[in-house]
Amino acid sequence: SCLMKGVRHLSDSGITRLPDRYVLPAPDRPGAAIVSSGSSRVKLPVVDLASLRDPSQRAAVLQTLDAACRDYGFFQVVNHGVQRDVTGGMLDVARRFFELPLAERARYMSPDVRATVRYGTSFNQAKDAVLCWRDFLKLVCQPLREVVPSWPQQPADLRDVASRYAAASHGLFMELMEAALEALGIVPSTAGGVLGELAAGSSHMMTVNCYPACPQPELTLGMPAHSDYGLFTFVLQDHVAGLQVMHGGRWLTVDPIPGSFVVNVGDHLEIYSNGVYKSVLHRVGVNSTRPRISVASFHSLPAERVVGPAPELVDEEAGKPRRYMDTDFATFLAYLASADGKDKTFLQSRM
Ligand code: SIN
Ligand code: FE2
Repeated sequence: SCLMKGVRHLSDSGITRLPDRYVLPAPDRPGAAIVSSGSSRVKLPVVDLASLRDPSQRAAVLQTLDAACRDYGFFQVVNHGVQRDVTGGMLDVARRFFELPLAERARYMSPDVRATVRYGTSFNQAKDAVLCWRDFLKLVCQPLREVVPSWPQQPADLRDVASRYAAASHGLFMELMEAALEALGIVPSTAGGVLGELAAGSSHMMTVNCYPACPQPELTLGMPAHSDYGLFTFVLQDHVAGLQVMHGGRWLTVDPIPGSFVVNVGDHLEIYSNGVYKSVLHRVGVNSTRPRISVASFHSLPAERVVGPAPELVDEEAGKPRRYMDTDFATFLAYLASADGKDKTFLQSRM
């Protein structure tokens, strides 16, 4: 049916066997379930924002950031200064949203991927052959003051908590973009360059994810392997592991650092950096005992902006050819409707 009840509903119903429509073909299965400890756990490179803000330590932190974006495409941000009640409050209200009666959540179901508020299940419901073990609430966050009145009214504090969280996330995004541009050697032009553009208007979308306990986690995923659209994605997660990052041909499980953000390079930053920074494949595994909540914030340029490599990073004569063609939101939507999510070759230059 088109009104999918989602996995929270399934989990609450007490099923002990994974329904067939969630069972992945053998090669796509996670193999081992996400374990609560062990050698496959990884500490991502850590970017300390307090040190980044200290002029005497900035250069060293920029180097860490640069290496992380080239190698892992992922890093964790600590000492960011966002108050614990903002991050903890966001996770808490997210949890309470998914505890609302299904009828209340279902008010926000929409088939329109551009809707300001959208509640749904799986990953890309329109084309997933096998469903994912995930329910989500997607909120458009830009322009913040204009969109908040259309966000859910329940729980009663959601608008307040989520808008404070969105503002904090956007502030950190701007700070990290400035740092990334500096690390890439892109100095702002007199007009302010891309930072000025972002200050004038940017796109910001938040996805609140709920991955309930799953009876057979080794047969399914919370999210299939994908890379993110956008410049940077910020992920806030609770203490339950689940996010896995492709690195050196292996899936590494990210060890949650409470109160930190996991930040990753998106396709737009890979393109803008002409391939210097990598938008890396990642996925989400689930487990049989503990539900997991995460909040992903996708930050980028305005949707109508055409994105191509920064002119500063292209120099044919110096052996730095343009490696990507320009892309825009319409291209991305066409790709969503057609490709399998792992194939980004559509972005690479045909020249
Ligand atoms: C993602 O948005 O790709 C992952 C979010 C999560 O860790 O649940
Ligand atoms: Fe993602």
